[in-house]
Amino acid sequence: MKFDIAVLDGDGIGPEICAAAIDVLNKIGQKYQHIFNFKHYDIGGAAIDKFGEPLPESTVKGCLESDSVLLGAVGGYKWDNLPGDKRPEKGLLGIRKAMGLYSNIRPAKLWKSLAGASPLKPKLVENGVDIIIVRELTGGIYFGKREHGTKDGEEYAEDTETYSVKEIERIAAIALELASKRSKRLVSVDKANVLETSRLWRRTVHAYAAENYPDITVEDVLVDNMAMQLVKNPAQFDVVVTSNMFGDILSDEAAQITGSIGMLASSSLGDGKRGLYEPIHGSAPDIAGKDICNPLATVLAASMMLRDSFGLTDESKEIENAVQKMLDKGYRTADIYEEGAIKVGCRKAAELICGEI
Ligand code: IPM
Ligand code: MN
Repeated sequence: MKFDIAVLDGDGIGPEICAAAIDVLNKIGQKYQHIFNFKHYDIGGAAIDKFGEPLPESTVKGCLESDSVLLGAVGGYKWDNLPGDKRPEKGLLGIRKAMGLYSNIRPAKLWKSLAGASPLKPKLVENGVDIIIVRELTGGIYFGKREHGTKDGEEYAEDTETYSVKEIERIAAIALELASKRSKRLVSVDKANVLETSRLWRRTVHAYAAENYPDITVEDVLVDNMAMQLVKNPAQFDVVVTSNMFGDILSDEAAQITGSIGMLASSSLGDGKRGLYEPIHGSAPDIAGKDICNPLATVLAASMMLRDSFGLTDESKEIENAVQKMLDKGYRTADIYEEGAIKVGCRKAAELICGEI
């Protein structure tokens, strides 16, 4: 089969990790006789430098014409002082919105060979951690009305959160479907003791579940309690659904619990099969261009793309297995290095994965 993949390298280590994922995809293509066509488009700081804006029209068009999108990372010190709508991050938010990617799946899984990397006590993670955070991605405070001005001689700023029943239902549907294939338990995170949007969220999730997934147990957890429970007993969680901002915060926490933010990938999907796949981590400008970053999250994001956008389950599994084998042989990039391991750079890591395919 033939697939057109739009590659948004972005900033910092973005180009390095995307190159690694492309190498692995090409190797899979050779083995299974698929052709992956890669077209690169600018986003984030790189786009600001070239076009004066973080998300040029050509990038949006390229993504909408592709079969799926692979993204490295955006942002860096160089663009930190630009106004809000000119920042690199705006490019990422913009492409999510333009492609209608309301569903962000962020699995936080402890890789067995990396259990020692978790910052939690061994007894808290000995039974593994395997959480899927389903984050609403195109609504809430990220996309609400913003204001910044002066009132009565004083400077003020305002961000607002809005959610409609339809927006809540469609993300609940994704999470419930996932839960139905796993533990049949869903945790919904909100702040219903304070926020009106959260009360609507809670009511809507329960009503939708009762009508469409009566066999799934839905439990509500307040976001502050969730932050605590995640470090107290992460093994209690399976599928978790939450709003855009809470999902942003909790997914970093869950990722760190696995000890290897450099290993975690995420998918963003809308109603169709075209998605955007990216590592959970950022652009790490401090180590960019040195060939020392960890490409595994991006390689695993590519594997998610094969499975969830292209339906290539075997090919996807083969990439995961190759990553596992390379870790089992003791190869580690600097971020997950432990004594006794063999330290490798980004390019070498990609080469080793290709060698296992
Ligand atoms: C993420 C990032 C983005 C977000 C930023 C870069 C806009 O933190 O994907 O989690 O807040 O969604
Ligand atoms: Mn984030």
